[in-house]
Amino acid sequence: MGRPRRGSPLACASVDCTSVSAATDIPSQNEAPKPERRPRVFSGSQPSGTLHLGNYLGAIRNYVAMQATHDCIYCVVDLHAITVRQQRAELRRNTIDVANAYLACGVDPERSIVFVQSHVPAHAELMWILNTITYMGELRRMTQFKDKTAGAEGESISVGLFDYPVLMAADILLYRADAVPVGEDQKQHVELTRDVAERFNNAFGKAFVVPEPIIRTEGARVMSLDDPAKKMSKSAGSENSYIALMDPPDVIRRKIRRAVTDSGSEVRVGPDKPALTNLLDIYSALADEPVDEIVRRYEGKGYAGLKADLGEVVASALAPIQARIRELEADKSYTLGVLKTGAERAEAIAARTLAKVRERVGLVPRP
Ligand code: TRP
Repeated sequence: MGRPRRGSPLACASVDCTSVSAATDIPSQNEAPKPERRPRVFSGSQPSGTLHLGNYLGAIRNYVAMQATHDCIYCVVDLHAITVRQQRAELRRNTIDVANAYLACGVDPERSIVFVQSHVPAHAELMWILNTITYMGELRRMTQFKDKTAGAEGESISVGLFDYPVLMAADILLYRADAVPVGEDQKQHVELTRDVAERFNNAFGKAFVVPEPIIRTEGARVMSLDDPAKKMSKSAGSENSYIALMDPPDVIRRKIRRAVTDSGSEVRVGPDKPALTNLLDIYSALADEPVDEIVRRYEGKGYAGLKADLGEVVASALAPIQARIRELEADKSYTLGVLKTGAERAEAIAARTLAKVRERVGLVPRP
């Protein structure tokens, strides 16, 4: 669980981008200032279900913050989502929902590229080429693959599920991304991406930037409201375990009121207080107030007051996002326009990388 920290663990400033900014960001002293070249970020989210507070605090909020320091490319990875069977109408709806959530939370399509993975065929094409230099053993070792297939080894596992990390590598490498913000659970996939990129560069000549993962801090992990040992997720059991991005205020208040708590009655964080730690982390992130200050305020008061106040904090933090999502839903053409431009801009970058890769491999250019 997250430790008590100074400051909000999720605030923009906490995004650790030191590893990627140093090399490219600082203009040398004697030269005329070059047009700024900022490090590039690529990340993606799957359109595979109801978006919730965990997606917002764990990922999308960081996407928004990184726009201040990076050139950002944010993708809705629908081809990843179909590695698990989807209902077509739901998949379409979820894809637009993720794009709307990006926009409503503050991803700015003037500054960042927002697009849908399947709109740029280069992803699937590069994946094929990367498949030829990725080893079965590497993919078999991926923890997520092992988790997803536990107890079902053998014939009924799709090749797509196995190959999922290679598609992810293609996503990242196509855009020559310097940095990839992901949750801890995706770190291994970014490491595979680095290995495959280096292997290609060594075998065929340099075509790829080797990306750095930017792993969100522990506190950015929002845990389930009914089991603080599990990550907040829409698939983990009950509706009460998560707060959907679009939950109405009264539902938010009720879910928080019903959230499990720890034994005792003292409001504080700690390994023996996983549920309270989670609630306080959420509070801290959304109110942008250090955990210790919140704890001090609730000294001598019980859980009920904290929960009532947290309900308000969450409801009012989500209110403007929900309003914006409703606007976007009312005018579908806006989001579609963003995705159209996004796909064009993404494709232009991807095409250059892919042409270089084809040349390196020895594929005859199309006459
Ligand atoms: N696999 C990632 C996840 O489930 C989503 C993803 C696909 C991604 N392609 C990516 C994340 C490229 C970062 C970069 O969270």
